[in-house]
Amino acid sequence: MSNVLLIGNGAREHVIAEAILRSRHNPVIFSYMKSNNPGIAALSEKILIGDYNDLKGIKKFSRDCNIDFAVIGPEDPLNNGVVDSLEEIDIPCVGPTKSLSLLETSKSFTRRLIQKYNIPGNPIFKIFSSMEGIDDFLGELEEIVIKPDGLTGGKGVRVQGDHFHTKDEALQYCREILEEHPYVIIDEKLEGEEFSLQCLCDGKTVIATPPVQDHKRRFIDDKGPNTGGMGSYSCEDHSLPFMNLDDVAEGLKITQKVAEAIHKETGEYYRGVMYGGFIITKDGVRLLEYNARFGDPEAMNILPLLKTDFIDICNAIIEGTLNNLNIEFEKKATVCKYIVPKGYGLPEDHPDAKSTSDKIEVDNVKDAKLYYSSVDNREDGLYMTTSRAIGVVGIAEDLEKAERIAERAVSSIKGSVDHRPDIGTKPLIEKRINHMKEIKEAGRVKKNAK
Ligand SMILES: Nc1ncnc2c1ncn2[C@@H]1O[C@H](COP(=O)(O)OP(=O)(O)O)[C@@H](O)[C@H]1O
Ligand SMILES: [Mg+2]
Repeated sequence: MSNVLLIGNGAREHVIAEAILRSRHNPVIFSYMKSNNPGIAALSEKILIGDYNDLKGIKKFSRDCNIDFAVIGPEDPLNNGVVDSLEEIDIPCVGPTKSLSLLETSKSFTRRLIQKYNIPGNPIFKIFSSMEGIDDFLGELEEIVIKPDGLTGGKGVRVQGDHFHTKDEALQYCREILEEHPYVIIDEKLEGEEFSLQCLCDGKTVIATPPVQDHKRRFIDDKGPNTGGMGSYSCEDHSLPFMNLDDVAEGLKITQKVAEAIHKETGEYYRGVMYGGFIITKDGVRLLEYNARFGDPEAMNILPLLKTDFIDICNAIIEGTLNNLNIEFEKKATVCKYIVPKGYGLPEDHPDAKSTSDKIEVDNVKDAKLYYSSVDNREDGLYMTTSRAIGVVGIAEDLEKAERIAERAVSSIKGSVDHRPDIGTKPLIEKRINHMKEIKEAGRVKKNAK
């Protein structure tokens, strides 16, 4: 029997909890959460609500519960050094130490690491600690993306053409970043289609899970502000419709080299998830960033398909024996859609912005899976908060069927809610395929002209 500490309170941790309990080892879950997730609570032997920076509290809870190992869901506790703290009391973790979490928490660390070890995947970029030289660098690039160095909850990156237009705006944003962060990273703006590749890593062996495409934008057709992710899909062939298996292999190869480099650089083995955010451009696969954990929503696409015992995977990550494990996923398509409050992501003065803490009712979601995110389970029912409320997932032999299952589940959730009906549908997939074709075509024309 294993006593597992699960840290986190979102839909990602809800699906992790489910994967843990499917194990033949009869594990027992003890959950440490920032707020009470009723889905996770129902699967846990015991829960404790507390802050992710209360490392003493987390250690005490772990000792009291006789924890064998911990799985860390979100980035905040990793950044706070929860793994270092738990290792002090001999509790091994699926999740990197604070210094290895730099892979996510410092985009400058990662860009430099990749550059130093000659790993392909970086765009043209420069890192600045002051305004000196930024103006000149902007003159060298057609369009840019500006990134703060540090965790920003997915709200710090600004893309030229989307979030700002002029050079003055760019300089102003760099100034703002440098007031709060040690560095600002400026990337050339890449054109292409993005995919998430969540890889399992014990420090030596890196294993890819099926690629997933997330949808960051709040509204249909990728309009509106960026969000934590409105939903995602994956395909039965473990590729995505706009890419081929070579692109997946390229993302894995980059990640394997990064795992090796991070070991050379720090002497430590990275144990946990290396989630690469990649973009396929006319010149091939490029890295946007790494996350040091599963994605939310993307965990909901891959963990329900996992055929291998999740506890075996955790043990292999901890013991450094991933190379001995054959990790398999069902050959099925998945579509995840997030149910959000109507006001989610809207400016405060918008008429719908106030609906964010309304009551919702969940009817029978039938053949879909349901994972709770930010909901408040009160005596008189379930209430939303300002964040994403519930993830529903359809799983089937193809995308069309999976999408239909997810949509049916969405319609059984009542309240002032919203979701993206276009995720996983044919028209949107066609658009992605055509976008990729246009980009590859433009690349060929350019090459031939040379
Ligand atoms: N170099 C780039 N070129 C084009 N788009 C980019 C680039 N870097 C980031 N983006 C866009 O911005 C989004 C967020 O950037 P990312 O590096 O993933 O940071 P975070 O997830 O921390 O916000 C990406 O999903 C992508 O759409
Ligand atoms: Mg990202």
